[in-house]
Amino acid sequence: MTSSDGQTGGSASQPEVSAGQTYGGSIVGGGDTFVATEAEPSVADMSTEVVSDEKLERLTVDTTPDLSIFANIVGQSQALIAKYPQSRSALLPLLHLVQSVEGYVSQAGIHFCAEQLNLSAAEVSAVATFYTMYKRKPCGEHLVSVCTNTLCAVLGGDAIYKKLQEHLGEDGKPLGHEQTAGEPGTPGSITLEHAECLAACDLGPVLQVNYEFYDNQTVDSAVELVDALRRGEKPAPTRGAALTDFKSVERQLAGLFDNDLAESEVDGPSAAVETLRGAQLAADRGWTAPAMPDEVALPEVEKK
Ligand code: FES
Repeated sequence: MTSSDGQTGGSASQPEVSAGQTYGGSIVGGGDTFVATEAEPSVADMSTEVVSDEKLERLTVDTTPDLSIFANIVGQSQALIAKYPQSRSALLPLLHLVQSVEGYVSQAGIHFCAEQLNLSAAEVSAVATFYTMYKRKPCGEHLVSVCTNTLCAVLGGDAIYKKLQEHLGEDGKPLGHEQTAGEPGTPGSITLEHAECLAACDLGPVLQVNYEFYDNQTVDSAVELVDALRRGEKPAPTRGAALTDFKSVERQLAGLFDNDLAESEVDGPSAAVETLRGAQLAADRGWTAPAMPDEVALPEVEKK
């Protein structure tokens, strides 16, 4: 079996455990392949097998991860859950909330969400591994996302990403996608990723730091930006809210605003002059869209 990251495992004598199954007290997440070191006996076998003390302990010990790191967010989690008619609808904000604690979604974070929402760890794991905003490894103080989608790529996004990989790498080894320069979570540490279209094509090439926009970038301006971040500075984004750090933004994405920070302060304005140019031209010249008829006949569909 091949996992999503290209790793392979398993042999004829080693049973594999696929996504969602429980093995050794751990839920196997999507994209991972775990290999059991010995065949587990069937229930029928176990009914007649003499189980050693060591094996009995392994089978009965509760291996649920320690969730004490999340003790301070239990009340906040319950407040978020209460906003939804169905508790499971709070899963996405809850995943952002656990990410604000550890800088990523760990196995413990998955179990915490499952416990709060009365879901299985496999259900939470399936969601957490689907969306790229939920990180599988601890992030740096800042997450730098470089758009390398078509328009930004041809305008310089590919060159910016390549340069940042080299600039943030060590010993001549470029930094890889979702790898961190510095110790994750410590001041000045930076996780680099390439991103798909960030919905700012009119301002390309763009990059984001903790999801705040830096428009019309060049290779030089991007290098200056990451150098400033490493020095502990927080250069102002081109538009939108002031720059903070990855964990703080994760709390905002969960819907929590600390220290009297008003939601409106992190909510924009984010539209640039370029974005609104077409609408402004139309307004200046009195252009309006033609009225739509109330009813439009559906086109004939060829019968097959
Ligand atoms: S292609 Fe980069 S923002 Fe759309």
